[in-house]
Amino acid sequence: MGTVTEHLTLAEQAALGSGATFWTTKEVGDVPAILLTDGPHGVRRQAGSATDHLGLARSEPATCFPPAVGLSQTWDPELVERVGAALGAESRALGVQVLLGPGINIKRDPRCGRNFEYFSEDPLLAGVLGAAWVRGVQGHGVGASLKHFAVNNAEDDRMRVSSDVDERTLRELYLRAFEHVVKQARPATVMCSYNRINGVYAAENRWLLTDVLRDEWGFDGAVISDWGAVRDRVAAVAAGLDLEMPSSNGVTDADVVAAVESGVLDAAAVARSAGRVAALAARVTENISGTATFDDEGHHQLAREAAARSIVLLKNDDDLLPLTPSSIAVIGGFAVSPRFQGGGSSHVNPTRVDVPLDEIRHRAGEYPVSYAEELTAQTLATAADADTAVVFLGLAAEEESEGFDRTHIDLPVEQLHLLSAVVQVQPRTVVVLSHGGVLRLDEVADLAPAILDGALLGQGGGSGIADVLFGAVNPSGRLAETVPVRLQDSPAYINFPAEDGHILYGERVFVGYRWYDARDAAVTFPFGHGLSYTTFEYTDLSVDVHADGLTVRVSVVNTGARAGREVVQVYAGLPVSRVARPPRWLAGFTGVTLDPGELREVQIPVAREELGYWDVRSGRRLVESGDYSVTVGASSRDLRLHTVVAVDGDAVPVLAFTPDSTLAELLGDPVAGPIVADMLAAAGQQAPTAGLSTAAGADMMRLLGSIPIGRLVSFSGGAFSREQLAGMLETVNRQRS
Ligand code: BGC
Repeated sequence: MGTVTEHLTLAEQAALGSGATFWTTKEVGDVPAILLTDGPHGVRRQAGSATDHLGLARSEPATCFPPAVGLSQTWDPELVERVGAALGAESRALGVQVLLGPGINIKRDPRCGRNFEYFSEDPLLAGVLGAAWVRGVQGHGVGASLKHFAVNNAEDDRMRVSSDVDERTLRELYLRAFEHVVKQARPATVMCSYNRINGVYAAENRWLLTDVLRDEWGFDGAVISDWGAVRDRVAAVAAGLDLEMPSSNGVTDADVVAAVESGVLDAAAVARSAGRVAALAARVTENISGTATFDDEGHHQLAREAAARSIVLLKNDDDLLPLTPSSIAVIGGFAVSPRFQGGGSSHVNPTRVDVPLDEIRHRAGEYPVSYAEELTAQTLATAADADTAVVFLGLAAEEESEGFDRTHIDLPVEQLHLLSAVVQVQPRTVVVLSHGGVLRLDEVADLAPAILDGALLGQGGGSGIADVLFGAVNPSGRLAETVPVRLQDSPAYINFPAEDGHILYGERVFVGYRWYDARDAAVTFPFGHGLSYTTFEYTDLSVDVHADGLTVRVSVVNTGARAGREVVQVYAGLPVSRVARPPRWLAGFTGVTLDPGELREVQIPVAREELGYWDVRSGRRLVESGDYSVTVGASSRDLRLHTVVAVDGDAVPVLAFTPDSTLAELLGDPVAGPIVADMLAAAGQQAPTAGLSTAAGADMMRLLGSIPIGRLVSFSGGAFSREQLAGMLETVNRQRS
């Protein structure tokens, strides 16, 4: 690598590895400077030399698409890719070469202040949607930046905290979506996170940035730092970091040069990183035209389509929705000042914003639509007189943002009082929700007959909401995150926030629905849930097992009166496993759009690796032999059809027995068992206490079975020597290999 950088001096190579300004890299020799900008749900190009990145200084107008919390609810990679393509086109038009997204961290805890910027609690969903986003953006020659690598699932103290997590959980949950996107979509860059992982800063984590990312997954792009994530540039370069952002004003470039000169840092590491930055610059500046523009009207229409598709119909008693044109009382400030994106580095300056109230008025035609921000007697009287009330509830921007976590998941109590008062006078009440992080909804669900979950919808949200309210769009969104009954029920409740700089991932792989299902706990709305204005039935489930995994086939029929899109979800499970597994996990999904009465067979491929677990003994993903349950449903708790298939597992790794192997492990092995039994019998006859004899009762044998064989040297009272043990293990291991 690095023909362009070979002739550069050490100082020039070091200079390539840190930014020139807040948003740009340096031009060095033939290597052009490039511009990197947030991301993810819109292009936030700040004009001039803005050093602010918290949304205070305005950026140039760009389309604000639904943030990940909304977009993920489409469960639609094709739509996400189209949004990505529009973002790529806007990046090109605004002169941006790398767009800083997507954010694909797992939503571990509902309180994480940045959950609005992430896709899901499930790694498959996050990975599939993240890959689609990257494909869309990069289709325009713009580089994506997969972030925040890795295990950045809380905002409080994010620049120092250590996420303490075991290897299996890391691999199955927190690294899994990253692996998927790296392998499937080849992002130009990966952004390492601020935090430490098991004590080591992500930026200095060689295991993460080199062993796993490059050597195992084959990542061939550049690793860039989150803004300000580099504490020790020399350690970071040695670990595999290529580009420190933003500019360090040359300070860390000098550190790198000094470290090479004093022999602390290998010059080859600096050259390698410089080569990667040069390769990135070449990749994202290819075919740049100075005349690119973007179709802001077309992109606004796409933002509106994506917004409508992101909405989840949580509840719809007695088919209250869709509304027919009629008199409506609209209540709540979000109807006129919509909350449509999150706070922090992703804050986009939208090209325009659709206002829900205006769009509802437009759809209602000649019928009166009143509006009130709060509750007054007059508001209630108007609500009582109208045919329907539409109440906008949600969280204000200051309640959730990048940079800090929430302490609760409740709606403001005044909003619940307002809703309660409205419902008393107007039973036909629809609630529309706006929020970035998940909300406690049990009370809302008890009060309101119909609920639309708008999460955050971007600049087209106002029209998207009206489209769904009046049935111009049949809702097909699905929750990408469980709505728990109470915060106290959630998986990391007692391990959040951090304590003394450490945050313990004690719930292990049991995050989101994996946790609630394992505990058989009630939830208010389950992962994958979402209603439609039509109904679907599932029949004829069949599953083919083959070398690459499973092919699941199921017929879906639209049994209602409207065309609609159903998201068919496949969950796998393995009731008998050598490791703790959730009862079921998402293994595949697809969407199907059907006219009334139409029936179609859908095929959902399940990659074989989706059946596996991370085997820490052998350091690889392992598919166990066994009877796997395959369940197809409309949500993780609306499971419609079920079958069981036998799958031949991978060869189980043969691990050498050691003095720490237990008697039970040795006796249970077909090769070692007879040898060890003979040895025990012989030793038992000579031992002062013959208690080690295989003639012991079953209860005693269980107890003895847990003893590491090496301890028998002492327990046998001299009848079984260290040398005999070594000889026996040598024989056993040789015969098994
Ligand atoms: C955020 C990143 C963002 C970067 C640049 C950081 O604070 O964590 O997501 O891309 O700033 O704005």
